[in-house]
Amino acid sequence: MRLDHILIGAGIAALVLLAAYYLLIRTEGMYLGWRVVVWLYDVYASRYDGIKKYDRGYEEWFLAHPIIDALRDVRAPLVLDVATGTGRVPLILLEQDAFQGRVVGLDLSRQMLFHAAVKLYGFRRRTDLIWHTAMALPFPDDTFDMVTCIEGLEFLPHPKENLGELVRVLRPGGVLLITNRKGTEARLMPGRTRTTPGMVTFLSEELGLVEVRSERWQVEYDLIWAKKPGQSRPTGARPLAEVLRCPVCGAVEMLPLNSGEWVCGHCERRAPVGEDGVLELFAMTQAHGRAGDDHKVS
Ligand SMILES: C[S@@+](CC[C@H](N)C(=O)[O-])C[C@H]1O[C@@H](n2cnc3c(N)ncnc32)[C@H](O)[C@@H]1O
Repeated sequence: MRLDHILIGAGIAALVLLAAYYLLIRTEGMYLGWRVVVWLYDVYASRYDGIKKYDRGYEEWFLAHPIIDALRDVRAPLVLDVATGTGRVPLILLEQDAFQGRVVGLDLSRQMLFHAAVKLYGFRRRTDLIWHTAMALPFPDDTFDMVTCIEGLEFLPHPKENLGELVRVLRPGGVLLITNRKGTEARLMPGRTRTTPGMVTFLSEELGLVEVRSERWQVEYDLIWAKKPGQSRPTGARPLAEVLRCPVCGAVEMLPLNSGEWVCGHCERRAPVGEDGVLELFAMTQAHGRAGDDHKVS
């Protein structure tokens, strides 16, 4: 074999490895579609907490206490945590005596939710874990007292629409808390990230949010707080059945059955519940040919 052929072959192999490293490791599959992102999180779910090594004191100080403070006017708030992963936000909130509310955690990685369910078992009466996409949230407009999305937005393919979806389900006067990726990592994610001032402007000017402010948080993330304009009565820690929309027909008529499944009183379609208690709406939408990116709740 000629030397120039060997060099060309080695160059191509190096490029392929570099592309794979960029697409699968550095950007965690985000440019390869939601299926790849979710597959990677499923694969890494059992190691996720070990990799992240969240510090309890730090989590309390920088997440739980500020969230509780932001919700101080609502006695028992209803919180939605989008891209909840292994239950970071629900767990740190529910562990605080000062938090008397309820948390709904939603994620598209079933394995991440399994680990969340194990960790949240002791709080199962005040938590609902839902397997579903963040791209079309199965809740009516103006529902939650607070919506959080921590280290998750950059994985959603249409940042403007996906953020709009978080705002849609927030009640007027409700609080939004998101993270904004920054630094070297963010520069490797074109189209998925904005500068923090750019995100603040986007939230206020394009999405019409008020009291938007950013806060330095970690090397790779800032926190951004905002409120939905207007004021409505707090939703409070209502049971899931009162706020859940059928992901197939859109009716707010989902009810738990004694069998453990949930059924839509309108279209009569059923959603299974896993042995770990996770409500598997994604399985319900898959069964009806509506899942993932193109899935919109009617
Ligand atoms: C970096 S983890 C963050 C998890 C958690 N919020 C935390 O801070 O530990 C990103 C999460 O986003 C979830 N995710 C990615 N794409 C999603 C989608 N389309 N819908 C819902 N969740 C999604 C992943 O499954 C993963 O659990």
